[in-house]
Amino acid sequence: MISKKIVDRINLQINREMYSAYLYMAMSAKLGDDGYKGIATWMMTQYHEEMFHAMKFFAYLQSQGAMPKIDKIDAPTVKAKTVKEIFEATLEHEKYVTASIRELLELALAEKDYATENLVRWYVNEQVEEEQNAVDIIQKIDLIGENKQGLFMLNAELAARTPTIPLDYTAPFPAV
Ligand code: FEO
Repeated sequence: MISKKIVDRINLQINREMYSAYLYMAMSAKLGDDGYKGIATWMMTQYHEEMFHAMKFFAYLQSQGAMPKIDKIDAPTVKAKTVKEIFEATLEHEKYVTASIRELLELALAEKDYATENLVRWYVNEQVEEEQNAVDIIQKIDLIGENKQGLFMLNAELAARTPTIPLDYTAPFPAV
């Protein structure tokens, strides 16, 4: 039986994942407005990934007979001006999410809730990939330097990213 403490903490995580989706949608809007349509597509794919992270928790709560809480999502602020600054902000945000997932894992371990532990370990692995994606792109931007043609090529490269998650968010747990 899942505890109220775990349910509340997963609901908080659902809200944080949805905020992440909202943040990347805002970044996608800015990138598109600045003419980086390909990078905007990459960022919108990230939006879908975050929605999937939220819905995977949502489906898990339902599978445990618990109620997902649909809470208010804060409006994101995109202060970053350049493409590099946007990916630096992405990396910082992912580090924050990683810390949040670690906190949830520690709670599951403290409560000896092994089903939740199993679920959260999927997110632990996912966070390694999420941070690595941002690091890889920042490194590419550093290699490009002031070369506008390089940024043009990166824009074309990142346009190819498509979601690897099921877009049917209602797929039963475990969907992936
Ligand atoms: Fe759901 Fe990007 O962490």
